[in-house]
Amino acid sequence: MSEQTGHVDTVMVEQRIFPPSQSFASRASIKSLSEYQQLYDAAAADLEGYWAAEARQHLHWFEPFQKTLQWDEPFAQWFVGGKTNASYNCLDAQIAAGRGDQVAILWEGEPGDTRTLTYRDLHCEVCKFANVLKSLGVQPGDVVSIYMPMTPELPVAMLACARIGAVHSVIFAGFSAEAVADRNNDAKAKIQLTSDGLYRRGKVLPLKDTIDEALAKSSTVEKCVVLKRAGNAVQMKNGRDIWWHEAMAQASTDCPATPLDSETPLFILYTSGSTGKPKGIRHTTAGYNLYAKRTFQMVFDHQDDDIFWCTADCGWITGHSYVVYGPLSAGAKILMYEGAPNWPEEDRFWALIEKYRVTILYTAPTAIRAFIKWGDHHVDKHDLTSLRLLGSVGEGINPEAWMWYYNKIGGGRCPIVDTWWQTETGGIMMSPLPGAIATKPGSCTKPLPGVRPRIVDEKGQDVPLGRGGMLCIDHPWPGMLRGIWGDDARYKEQYWTKIPGMYLTGDNARCDTDGYFWIMGRIDDVINVSGHRLSTIEVESALVSHPSVAEAAAVGKPDEIRGQVLSVFVTLRSGQPSDELRTALKMHVRKEIGALAQPDDIHFTSALPKTRSGKIMRRLLRDIASGKEQVGDTTTLEDYTVLAKLRSDDES
Ligand code: WTA
Repeated sequence: MSEQTGHVDTVMVEQRIFPPSQSFASRASIKSLSEYQQLYDAAAADLEGYWAAEARQHLHWFEPFQKTLQWDEPFAQWFVGGKTNASYNCLDAQIAAGRGDQVAILWEGEPGDTRTLTYRDLHCEVCKFANVLKSLGVQPGDVVSIYMPMTPELPVAMLACARIGAVHSVIFAGFSAEAVADRNNDAKAKIQLTSDGLYRRGKVLPLKDTIDEALAKSSTVEKCVVLKRAGNAVQMKNGRDIWWHEAMAQASTDCPATPLDSETPLFILYTSGSTGKPKGIRHTTAGYNLYAKRTFQMVFDHQDDDIFWCTADCGWITGHSYVVYGPLSAGAKILMYEGAPNWPEEDRFWALIEKYRVTILYTAPTAIRAFIKWGDHHVDKHDLTSLRLLGSVGEGINPEAWMWYYNKIGGGRCPIVDTWWQTETGGIMMSPLPGAIATKPGSCTKPLPGVRPRIVDEKGQDVPLGRGGMLCIDHPWPGMLRGIWGDDARYKEQYWTKIPGMYLTGDNARCDTDGYFWIMGRIDDVINVSGHRLSTIEVESALVSHPSVAEAAAVGKPDEIRGQVLSVFVTLRSGQPSDELRTALKMHVRKEIGALAQPDDIHFTSALPKTRSGKIMRRLLRDIASGKEQVGDTTTLEDYTVLAKLRSDDES
């Protein structure tokens, strides 16, 4: 029975394939499949040798490392004995390479205000803020909690911590006071950074008020530095709260980067575990920095004249790796935008791309699906011909959304890099190299050099090509998490116990006969209909390929006879919910993937529950589908009203 073996059945067939154009490939640093394959095979044959050479070439070393990898499963140390500094690699090394006067950050606020920082400007701000932190008593190893809007001060704060060996914990500025306090307490944060307020869709959200509430419950936090951003009234607590601009006015610009051991903790980033207890993913200096930099350069085929825009907030790993550490240590020019994609109009992203001549756009499927729903006319108003490459991250991208992104945004000209990775992996693990690997809509294609994925069953045996199974990584890599903050046992149990000797990603995947990987969703989300184990994304993609459907989520609902039946939640792109449409959608899925995957019930809803980073929360939908009164943990839910809406949509 497939249940015991860990297999997952596949029902999806996608035959479209898009090779890179000649003109793209000829400019790219890796130009052909055979070039990729040679690089991959050479790295796989000697992983440690590969990473050692990469590290020597691509990081600045105050002292060289003695040993490439110390592996005491599941604890890894990379580049042992070496000393480097991530802030140095992002700033001083760029200035030394002649990029001092080159733009580092092009920034636009939601109200339309703009700023430009060169590498030298950024260096100056970071040095000053590092001195502010020192003046507040921050020592190497102390944790600094950051709850700020996407202004340049957010990367400044991160890099200032990195400069002096403090550990940052960035908390997305949409979390509640309770969530901030939980994270602060878990990390034993010493300093809090925040702003008076944050602009969101034309309104000001009072961040400082949230922080006041959070700090009342965060006993370890001694000081709070407050950036003036929105000008809203705040209460400054005497002895605890300091204005950012006042502290900076007195700070010296002289702050050499501290040479830090390779394994010095760089940051903690909390992700939601299935239990609801926050899980602080711990990343360290050298390995993470190298991994972010090299994956950035390879996957985005970065060239000197690129303007790179990753739309993620620094509160997520994507913002850490591809707004800050990856691009800056590669000397890139980045665009940073503070606000919402639909403010003042639903064309803001396209207006920004046109204005700043963005060449590479990296965003998430949840955003792409929203753009499709908002309509093509918003896109048509703008000149997007500066774009040469598109990226996607965070969830699987349904093939029809992929096609829209490719044609409508990329003009049929730009390769799409569908990048698979996790907070835990530190950087991209699987993705097309855009000049070398032909893309297939919905596949993250192939592993990057130095990464060895495996798809295995419950016993850790490789499943045959084409079969779905558990995605694991069978050798440590420099960007991997080093643990869960303060909880080694949970780290071991969650990632290294079920399949001995391999890192368990928690995702299912299959590999096709061309060696392309297809992510099938989280292991916990598999739907078991009459002994067939179906993946969520395949059913959802079939629904999204119907012209009326904008988004879909598929979950299993208990059924006495069949084990589970399929229950799907659908938001519409056009048209009204009706019984006819319900029947039409069932028939559509039946036609696309077969009777087995025909949904038992279809719920029309105006919105799906999502995490604050935009992932569909199938766990909550499962509870709703099976009629539970109480749904599970909702602390990471983005919009609480969605739950109420789902219930009432359902009754109608
Ligand atoms: C999912 C985000 C399919 C996956 C960088 C993974 C994806 C989880 C993709 C990690 C992709 C991310 N295709 N699924 N390209 N990218 N995922 O920690 O389930 O926020 O395990 O890191 O998102 O999410 P996280």
